[in-house]
Amino acid sequence: MSRTVVVLNGPNLNLLGQREPEIYGHGSLDDLKAATVVRAKTHGLAADFRQSNDEGELVSAIQAARGSAVGIIINAAAYTHTSVAILDALLASDLPVIEVHLSNIYKREEFRHHSYVSRAATGVICGFGAHGYELAMDAMAQILDSRKAK
Ligand code: DQA
Repeated sequence: MSRTVVVLNGPNLNLLGQREPEIYGHGSLDDLKAATVVRAKTHGLAADFRQSNDEGELVSAIQAARGSAVGIIINAAAYTHTSVAILDALLASDLPVIEVHLSNIYKREEFRHHSYVSRAATGVICGFGAHGYELAMDAMAQILDSRKAK
């Protein structure tokens, strides 16, 4: 059975491709999902790729991952900058967490420079557009391999 990495996407990411394409690109969330699933497979992993506009739903998905997944890749979108609830759920998960953003949040408005999610993340990948999700999956595979080797 493949080990599952939960890939969580926060609010407004369902509008990828239509929403500010100059910042977030022209690809859709389905395109992103397809590329992430393929990349996971190359590492012998399964990607459980989800999106929600609802903070509580994201918290519940993180809690569910605790018993069923081997890691979490998360683009919490705007909740990145506001949500202590998502941070607490990630800290409680006891799983490796990788934070991802399509845009380079440090190049943008100051309110995007602070991330609650980062306090729970092994690392952050931002500014590489959709490719960042594949990079995050590569990094997750490496983290999981190094844990197995111990
Ligand atoms: C984002 C960056 C956030 O600041 C923003 O609120 C998003 C998307 C990104 O992927 O670049 O919705 O997480």
